[in-house]
Amino acid sequence: MSKVLVVANWKMNPPSFQEAKGLFDATRKAVEKYPSSVIVAPPSIYLRELHARYKGRSIRFCAQDVSYDARGAHTGEISLPQAKEAGIVYAIVGHSERRARGETNEDTRKKVAAALAARVTPILCVGEAKRDASGEHLEFIKEALRIGFADVPTAKISSIIVAYEPIWAIGGEEAMKPRDMHEMAIFIRKTLVGLYGEGARSLKILYGGSINESNASDMVRAGDVSGLLVGHVSTDGVRFAALLENLSKQA
Ligand code: PGA
Repeated sequence: MSKVLVVANWKMNPPSFQEAKGLFDATRKAVEKYPSSVIVAPPSIYLRELHARYKGRSIRFCAQDVSYDARGAHTGEISLPQAKEAGIVYAIVGHSERRARGETNEDTRKKVAAALAARVTPILCVGEAKRDASGEHLEFIKEALRIGFADVPTAKISSIIVAYEPIWAIGGEEAMKPRDMHEMAIFIRKTLVGLYGEGARSLKILYGGSINESNASDMVRAGDVSGLLVGHVSTDGVRFAALLENLSKQA
Protein backbone atom coordinates (compact mmCIF):
# COMPACT_ATOMS: atom_id res chain seq x y z
CA MET A 1 0.00 0.00 0.00
CA SER A 2 1.23 3.43 -0.89
CA LYS A 3 2.17 5.38 2.19
CA VAL A 4 0.97 8.63 0.66
CA LEU A 5 -2.12 9.82 2.50
CA VAL A 6 -4.80 11.21 0.24
CA VAL A 7 -7.65 13.10 1.87
CA ALA A 8 -10.70 13.46 -0.39
CA ASN A 9 -12.49 16.55 0.87
CA TRP A 10 -15.83 16.51 -0.91
CA LYS A 11 -16.89 19.79 0.72
CA MET A 12 -20.64 20.35 0.13
CA ASN A 13 -20.80 17.87 -2.77
CA PRO A 14 -22.40 15.95 -4.41
CA PRO A 15 -25.99 17.27 -4.25
CA SER A 16 -27.75 13.94 -3.62
CA PHE A 17 -27.06 10.76 -1.67
CA GLN A 18 -27.58 8.80 -4.87
CA GLU A 19 -24.65 10.64 -6.41
CA ALA A 20 -22.62 10.34 -3.22
CA LYS A 21 -23.00 6.56 -3.41
CA GLY A 22 -21.84 6.64 -7.04
CA LEU A 23 -18.83 8.79 -6.20
CA PHE A 24 -17.94 6.61 -3.26
CA ASP A 25 -18.16 3.47 -5.41
CA ALA A 26 -15.87 5.06 -8.01
CA THR A 27 -13.45 6.02 -5.23
CA ARG A 28 -13.58 2.52 -3.75
CA LYS A 29 -12.88 0.92 -7.13
CA ALA A 30 -9.96 3.27 -7.75
CA VAL A 31 -8.50 2.41 -4.35
CA GLU A 32 -8.85 -1.31 -5.11
CA LYS A 33 -7.10 -0.87 -8.44
CA TYR A 34 -4.37 1.48 -7.19
CA PRO A 35 -3.89 0.56 -3.53
CA SER A 36 -3.66 3.77 -1.54
CA SER A 37 -4.39 5.24 1.88
CA VAL A 38 -7.47 7.30 1.16
CA ILE A 39 -9.46 9.25 3.73
CA VAL A 40 -12.89 10.36 2.52
CA ALA A 41 -14.46 13.46 4.08
CA PRO A 42 -18.04 13.53 2.77
CA PRO A 43 -20.75 15.93 3.90
CA SER A 44 -21.63 14.69 7.39
CA ILE A 45 -25.21 13.85 6.41
CA TYR A 46 -23.82 11.08 4.15
CA LEU A 47 -21.25 9.72 6.59
CA ARG A 48 -23.11 7.04 8.47
CA GLU A 49 -24.61 5.37 5.45
CA LEU A 50 -21.46 5.47 3.34
CA HIS A 51 -19.52 4.03 6.24
CA ALA A 52 -22.11 1.29 6.81
CA ARG A 53 -22.04 0.25 3.14
CA TYR A 54 -18.25 0.01 2.99
CA LYS A 55 -16.78 -3.36 3.88
CA GLY A 56 -13.14 -2.72 2.96
CA ARG A 57 -10.27 -1.43 5.06
CA SER A 58 -8.31 0.90 2.81
CA ILE A 59 -10.67 3.87 2.98
CA ARG A 60 -11.15 5.67 6.24
CA PHE A 61 -13.65 8.38 7.02
CA CYS A 62 -13.21 11.95 8.12
CA ALA A 63 -15.42 14.80 9.33
CA GLN A 64 -15.06 18.13 7.52
CA ASP A 65 -15.53 19.94 10.82
CA VAL A 66 -16.53 19.04 14.38
CA SER A 67 -17.70 20.84 17.47
CA TYR A 68 -15.40 21.02 20.47
CA ASP A 69 -18.42 20.57 22.73
CA ALA A 70 -19.47 17.01 23.34
CA ARG A 71 -23.19 17.83 23.69
CA GLY A 72 -25.67 20.57 24.34
CA ALA A 73 -27.51 23.52 22.86
CA HIS A 74 -25.40 24.14 19.74
CA THR A 75 -27.77 24.31 16.79
CA GLY A 76 -26.26 23.06 13.55
CA GLU A 77 -23.12 21.60 15.12
CA ILE A 78 -21.96 17.99 15.06
CA SER A 79 -20.15 16.53 18.04
CA LEU A 80 -17.10 14.28 17.96
CA PRO A 81 -18.98 11.39 19.62
CA GLN A 82 -21.73 11.68 16.98
CA ALA A 83 -19.28 11.79 14.08
CA LYS A 84 -17.28 8.96 15.57
CA GLU A 85 -20.35 6.81 15.90
CA ALA A 86 -21.06 7.52 12.22
CA GLY A 87 -17.64 6.11 11.32
CA ILE A 88 -14.95 8.81 11.36
CA VAL A 89 -11.42 8.32 12.61
CA TYR A 90 -10.15 11.70 11.32
CA ALA A 91 -11.48 15.25 11.55
CA ILE A 92 -10.48 18.27 9.50
CA VAL A 93 -10.02 21.25 11.80
CA GLY A 94 -9.72 24.88 10.74
CA HIS A 95 -10.25 24.51 7.01
CA SER A 96 -9.94 27.93 5.38
CA GLU A 97 -13.60 27.75 4.32
CA ARG A 98 -14.55 27.37 8.01
CA ARG A 99 -12.16 30.13 9.01
CA ALA A 100 -13.78 32.38 6.37
CA ARG A 101 -17.03 31.86 8.29
CA GLY A 102 -15.54 32.94 11.56
CA GLU A 103 -13.53 30.03 12.93
CA THR A 104 -10.56 31.32 14.93
CA ASN A 105 -7.23 29.87 15.99
CA GLU A 106 -8.71 29.58 19.49
CA ASP A 107 -11.51 27.42 18.08
CA THR A 108 -8.96 25.17 16.38
CA ARG A 109 -7.05 24.85 19.65
CA LYS A 110 -10.18 23.49 21.36
CA LYS A 111 -11.13 21.26 18.44
CA VAL A 112 -7.68 19.70 18.12
CA ALA A 113 -7.63 18.92 21.86
CA ALA A 114 -11.21 17.59 21.80
CA ALA A 115 -10.46 15.37 18.81
CA LEU A 116 -7.39 13.88 20.49
CA ALA A 117 -9.36 13.26 23.67
CA ALA A 118 -11.99 11.46 21.57
CA ARG A 119 -9.26 9.39 19.85
CA VAL A 120 -9.92 11.03 16.51
CA THR A 121 -6.91 12.22 14.51
CA PRO A 122 -7.15 15.95 13.81
CA ILE A 123 -6.02 17.29 10.45
CA LEU A 124 -5.23 20.90 11.30
CA CYS A 125 -5.37 23.17 8.25
CA VAL A 126 -3.26 26.31 8.11
CA GLY A 127 -2.65 28.66 5.21
CA GLU A 128 -2.31 32.31 4.39
CA ALA A 129 -4.56 34.32 2.08
CA LYS A 130 -1.66 36.08 0.35
CA ARG A 131 2.08 36.41 0.33
CA ASP A 132 4.42 39.31 -0.12
CA ALA A 133 8.14 39.79 -0.09
CA SER A 134 8.23 40.76 3.59
CA GLY A 135 7.42 37.18 4.62
CA GLU A 136 4.57 38.23 6.92
CA HIS A 137 2.72 35.06 6.02
CA LEU A 138 5.30 33.06 7.97
CA GLU A 139 4.31 34.83 11.19
CA PHE A 140 0.67 34.16 10.35
CA ILE A 141 1.33 30.42 9.91
CA LYS A 142 3.44 30.31 13.04
CA GLU A 143 0.62 31.85 15.06
CA ALA A 144 -1.92 29.39 13.68
CA LEU A 145 0.39 26.51 14.65
CA ARG A 146 1.23 27.94 18.08
CA ILE A 147 -2.39 28.33 19.08
CA GLY A 148 -3.73 25.25 17.27
CA PHE A 149 -1.26 23.00 19.13
CA ALA A 150 -1.39 24.82 22.48
CA ASP A 151 -3.45 22.19 24.32
CA VAL A 152 -1.80 19.13 22.83
CA PRO A 153 -0.01 16.89 25.33
CA THR A 154 3.69 16.57 24.40
CA ALA A 155 3.37 12.83 23.88
CA LYS A 156 0.62 13.39 21.30
CA ILE A 157 2.27 16.04 19.13
CA SER A 158 3.24 13.64 16.36
CA SER A 159 -0.28 12.21 16.09
CA ILE A 160 -1.64 15.44 14.65
CA ILE A 161 -1.60 15.94 10.92
CA VAL A 162 -0.91 19.42 9.58
CA ALA A 163 -2.36 20.34 6.20
CA TYR A 164 -0.75 23.38 4.66
CA GLU A 165 -3.28 24.94 2.30
CA PRO A 166 -2.39 28.35 0.93
CA ILE A 167 -5.77 29.98 0.32
CA TRP A 168 -4.52 31.62 -2.87
CA ALA A 169 -3.92 28.16 -4.36
CA ILE A 170 -7.28 26.58 -3.48
CA GLY A 171 -9.96 25.75 -6.02
CA GLY A 172 -8.08 25.97 -9.34
CA GLU A 173 -5.74 23.78 -11.34
CA GLU A 174 -2.41 25.29 -10.43
CA ALA A 175 -0.89 24.13 -7.17
CA MET A 176 1.93 25.78 -5.31
CA LYS A 177 5.38 24.88 -6.61
CA PRO A 178 6.67 21.71 -4.90
CA ARG A 179 9.94 23.43 -4.07
CA ASP A 180 8.05 26.19 -2.23
CA MET A 181 6.08 23.54 -0.39
CA HIS A 182 9.34 21.89 0.58
CA GLU A 183 10.47 25.15 2.17
CA MET A 184 7.14 25.51 3.93
CA ALA A 185 7.33 21.96 5.29
CA ILE A 186 10.75 22.75 6.75
CA PHE A 187 9.34 25.95 8.26
CA ILE A 188 6.33 24.16 9.78
CA ARG A 189 8.48 21.43 11.29
CA LYS A 190 11.08 23.87 12.60
CA THR A 191 8.39 26.07 14.12
CA LEU A 192 6.66 23.20 15.90
CA VAL A 193 9.91 21.68 17.16
CA GLY A 194 10.91 25.12 18.47
CA LEU A 195 7.58 25.61 20.23
CA TYR A 196 6.69 22.13 21.36
CA GLY A 197 9.78 19.95 21.20
CA GLU A 198 11.35 17.14 19.24
CA GLY A 199 8.13 15.12 19.06
CA ALA A 200 7.01 17.43 16.27
CA ARG A 201 9.79 16.29 13.97
CA SER A 202 7.91 13.18 12.91
CA LEU A 203 4.45 14.62 12.35
CA LYS A 204 2.83 14.29 8.98
CA ILE A 205 2.45 17.34 6.77
CA LEU A 206 0.03 17.38 3.85
CA TYR A 207 -0.34 19.86 1.04
CA GLY A 208 -3.74 21.04 -0.24
CA GLY A 209 -4.73 23.50 -2.96
CA SER A 210 -5.48 22.67 -6.63
CA ILE A 211 -4.01 19.19 -6.51
CA ASN A 212 -5.00 17.21 -9.57
CA GLU A 213 -4.04 14.10 -11.53
CA SER A 214 -1.16 15.94 -13.26
CA ASN A 215 0.57 17.62 -10.34
CA ALA A 216 0.02 15.16 -7.46
CA SER A 217 3.10 13.00 -8.07
CA ASP A 218 5.46 15.97 -8.35
CA MET A 219 4.15 17.41 -5.12
CA VAL A 220 4.69 14.15 -3.26
CA ARG A 221 8.13 13.63 -4.79
CA ALA A 222 9.52 17.13 -4.35
CA GLY A 223 7.29 18.83 -1.79
CA ASP A 224 8.46 16.97 1.33
CA VAL A 225 4.88 16.01 2.17
CA SER A 226 3.33 12.81 3.52
CA GLY A 227 0.19 13.31 1.53
CA LEU A 228 -2.34 15.53 -0.15
CA LEU A 229 -5.66 17.10 0.63
CA VAL A 230 -7.72 17.06 -2.53
CA GLY A 231 -10.87 19.13 -2.97
CA HIS A 232 -12.73 19.42 -6.27
CA VAL A 233 -10.77 16.70 -8.09
CA SER A 234 -11.89 14.19 -5.41
CA THR A 235 -15.51 14.77 -6.43
CA ASP A 236 -14.83 13.59 -9.97
CA GLY A 237 -14.46 9.81 -9.90
CA VAL A 238 -12.52 9.63 -13.16
CA ARG A 239 -10.02 12.34 -12.27
CA PHE A 240 -9.56 11.02 -8.75
CA ALA A 241 -8.83 7.53 -10.12
CA ALA A 242 -6.24 9.04 -12.48
CA LEU A 243 -4.67 10.85 -9.53
CA LEU A 244 -4.36 7.59 -7.55
CA GLU A 245 -3.01 5.83 -10.63
CA ASN A 246 -0.29 8.44 -11.07
CA LEU A 247 0.65 8.26 -7.41
CA SER A 248 0.83 4.47 -7.59
CA LYS A 249 3.37 4.68 -10.42
CA GLN A 250 5.91 6.32 -8.19
CA ALA A 251 5.23 4.22 -5.06
P1 PGA B 1 -9.05 22.13 -4.07
O1 PGA B 1 -9.44 22.24 -2.52
O2 PGA B 1 -8.33 20.82 -4.24
O3 PGA B 1 -10.35 22.20 -4.76
O4 PGA B 1 -8.13 23.30 -4.33
C1 PGA B 1 -8.54 21.87 -1.52
C2 PGA B 1 -9.14 22.19 -0.19
O5 PGA B 1 -9.72 23.27 -0.01
O6 PGA B 1 -9.08 21.36 0.74
